[in-house]
Amino acid sequence: MEWTKKQIAPSLLACDFGNVEKQLKILESAGCEYLHLDVMDGIFVPNISFGQPLIKSIRKCTNMKFDTHLMIVDPIRYVDTFADCGSDMITIHIESCHNVRETLRAIRARGLKAGLSIKPKTPVDAVKPFVGEFDLVLVMSVEPGFGGQSFMPDSIPKVRQLAELRAWTQSEFLISIDGGIGEKNIVDVSLAGADLFVAGSSVLGKPDIAAAFTSLDGLANG
Ligand code: DX5
Ligand code: ZN
Repeated sequence: MEWTKKQIAPSLLACDFGNVEKQLKILESAGCEYLHLDVMDGIFVPNISFGQPLIKSIRKCTNMKFDTHLMIVDPIRYVDTFADCGSDMITIHIESCHNVRETLRAIRARGLKAGLSIKPKTPVDAVKPFVGEFDLVLVMSVEPGFGGQSFMPDSIPKVRQLAELRAWTQSEFLISIDGGIGEKNIVDVSLAGADLFVAGSSVLGKPDIAAAFTSLDGLANG
């Protein structure tokens, strides 16, 4: 994957949905290139967020890359529809399906980047059988389901282990981290080897979205 710098992916979950277009324009003007889209089904996680119609609508008002995070059971059922509504990357959870390989292949078959996510209690070892089949690993640094939770520091060694795995296997996958990311921890996570930083409350939850984005971007890129 072509990757020139570390990137912040603000999570739409933290936006003001009444002003979504305006907020996306602010992010874009600040230089933001990735938008994280948290899709929750109320079964895999105890919360419901949004789905394809909303993503399709916002696709018309921004050129940012859409990093779609599917927190849903059996995601293979919806790979095509989330591709159709404008996702550039689709990340699935290793814990949510028995056909991980098939699902990752279905995502790549649509020409999208395929991500594999692990919850806080899932070890890095779980992704090893799928090296070569994914373009990104997403480390959850909170239990998935809600924005605004506290960062779990145990996720930092997992980022380091993934960076080692990437080196040993001579792979090029990206390492992403999601949950509780902000000014207090982004430097440590970046030093551990993360490339993509999902940030909800610490960007779209702040009064000055552009300043919050710029500050995190600066910290991540040292
Ligand atoms: C949680 C989601 C996160 C969340 C991050 O299940 O996957 O992307 O929106 O929000 P913050 O940054 O507020 O923890
Ligand atoms: Zn997410």
